[in-house]
Parts: sequence; C-alpha cells; structure tokens
Amino acid sequence: MAKITIADEQREITEVEAIAAYLGGHGIVYEQWNSGRLDSPDATSEEILAEYAPEIDALKEAGGYVTADVINVHPETPGLDAMLEKFNKEHTHSEDEVRYIVKGRGTFHIRPKNEDGSFGTIFAIEMEAGDLINVPAGTHHWFDLCSERTIRAIRLFLDPSGWTPHYTGTDIHERYAPVCWGPAYIAAGGLRPAGEGVGIQLNSTN
Ligand code: LAC
Ligand code: NI
Repeated sequence: MAKITIADEQREITEVEAIAAYLGGHGIVYEQWNSGRLDSPDATSEEILAEYAPEIDALKEAGGYVTADVINVHPETPGLDAMLEKFNKEHTHSEDEVRYIVKGRGTFHIRPKNEDGSFGTIFAIEMEAGDLINVPAGTHHWFDLCSERTIRAIRLFLDPSGWTPHYTGTDIHERYAPVCWGPAYIAAGGLRPAGEGVGIQLNSTN
C-alpha cells in the first residue's frame, strides 16, 4: 500500500483517501487503479500499454500528454546506479511527472512550495503496484528505489525527448532517507532523525 511519511512531524498517512487528500492539497494527483487486472507484471511493455489503454487515453486527454511508454528497472539493469544518481537529488522538470506503477516500489520526496513562494514541510510518498501519481511541472522532488531496486512503470509525456532533471542545487535530499530501504539500511546506521546528519546514498555497494 502506498504510504506518506512526514518525517519532520513524525507522522504517516496510510489510508488511500487520506493520501489522495493530502497530495491533492499540494496539487499532486494520486489514484489507485486496480492492479489485479494484469495477468502478469512481467507482461511485455506492449501488453501493459494495451491493458491500460483506456486509462492512458483518459490521462492524455486530460493532461495533453502525447506519448506513453513502460520503464522497466531491476537490479541487473545496466547503468542502474548512474540512472538512480540522476534522480535522487532535488530537481524539477519542465513537464508533469506522470507515473503508474505496475511492479516494484519507489519513493518520491516532495518539497512543496507555499503560495507565498516559501517551502512547506517535506514529505515522502512511497509508491507501489496500482499507484498513479502526477507530480506537476516545477515541483521540487527527488526519487529513490526501495531495497529490492525494482520498478516497472507506465510514463506519460508531452515531449519524450525532453525528460531531463533540472537540479535545484541544494543538498536537502541527503537529510531524508526513504523509509522503504528496509532493515539492511537501518542496521547500517542509516536511519537518523530528519534534519540531522546525512543519510547514506543508494550506490553500488548495495
Ligand atoms: C524522474 C523521477 C524518477 O524524474 O524523479 O523520472
Ligand atoms: Ni523527477
């Protein structure tokens, strides 16, 4: 199940409607689709896109997205560490980040902006199979995989050639470790209260 963790308030939100309401309050769309429809999460990308065609078409219609693909990441993915290093630092995108998780897990950290331009309380949203998220263009965020380093997700784009992180230049991500890294991470002394010290990075020693 998806989960929001607000480390600075030592608070978690685990109930689907409450998660959607909290994210909605920050302009982020969250939906839970029926993930049981697909016979196998290991179906081909084409099969996945065909299975979810009605939802994909509805999202395209609503958001103006023109293409969809399936990203498939697992521990043996060549260049995985370099790929993860691109996204585990605070960044924004010039278009919405729309992801539907078919398999695996990952955590988005969001640093929300208030209307007056100041930043609000950072929170993490752990995503897993069946979860859809739309992080609007310009949102400050970063992303980590969980301990099993596996994720399969449908992505929607306005411009697939333009999927680039724009780094904000802060190191704030170092203070917020994804809680989904699990016991090995905690045993390594990685879990510290937010705002103190530096969490270990997800790297090739995992
Ligand atoms: C991205 C995520 C992983 O930019 O933040 O694709
Ligand atoms: Ni991103």
